[in-house]
Amino acid sequence: MGLHDVLAWAPAESVAARLVRQVDFGRLPAHIAVIMDGNGRWAARRRLPRVEGHRAGIDSVRDSVEVCARLGIDVLTLYAFSVENWKRPPAEVRGLMGLLKRYLRLELATLMENDIRLQVIGSEEELAPDVRGELDAAQERTGGNTGMVFNIALNYGGRAEIVAAARRALRAGVDPDELDEARFAGLLYTAGQPDPDLLIRTSGEMRISNFLLWQIAYSEIWVTDTYWPDFRARHLLEAVLAYQKRDRRYGGIEQEPAIVGR
Ligand code: FPP
Repeated sequence: MGLHDVLAWAPAESVAARLVRQVDFGRLPAHIAVIMDGNGRWAARRRLPRVEGHRAGIDSVRDSVEVCARLGIDVLTLYAFSVENWKRPPAEVRGLMGLLKRYLRLELATLMENDIRLQVIGSEEELAPDVRGELDAAQERTGGNTGMVFNIALNYGGRAEIVAAARRALRAGVDPDELDEARFAGLLYTAGQPDPDLLIRTSGEMRISNFLLWQIAYSEIWVTDTYWPDFRARHLLEAVLAYQKRDRRYGGIEQEPAIVGR
């Protein structure tokens, strides 16, 4: 995975093909997380029902998954449905679940071709049996893949995840004196995965929306005004390039510049 895999896929002379040549492949974010937002507004602008925004957003999912796998990103996490999203009109929830099932059926071959392992993060229990069936089948089929991990956050809430992890620790009788950050992280859905280096949010909103609250402690945040259905590989590459210009200090201080003349 790398430059040539992206160039073999991106149309020649495209913006994506130009941008990918600027990427430093030695400093890729290991984990990219995305809050896909603006589907409703995208649809409203076109006087379409909200679900049409979600439908159009599937093309953006496809593009983002493929470009990340080809770049060589280790983990991509997409926020598809939050624990709060059940409050939406039933027709919209049904529409979203239907799109998810369709995506899984149609994209399984592409996930296999790109060696991508699908993993659900969130509570699957509240999902309808047909949706769970499709998710379980896709997770099983892709379970042996060793390339990029594609986390779909479904019925996901960051606070709920932390509470569930605390419950797991208590049930397992973990000694409080032995419970440190590394051990706690191992009880989260993302156990064993690197924390997101880069968090992308579309549609210009400056919110975290209960997403990966523990894991994004030191993530670099990149927000674009682009609505999710218009988001394509070139936007993802812009985010990666912006990330590579950031100075990550993790609460420390800037590297002291070499003192000239001594
Ligand atoms: C936010 O836009 C988007 C969602 C709640 C759903 C995103 C889901 C998909 C793109 C489809 C399924 C995903 C996968 C991974 C197959 P919004 O409706 O809140 O937009 P608004 O803020 O403009 O109303």
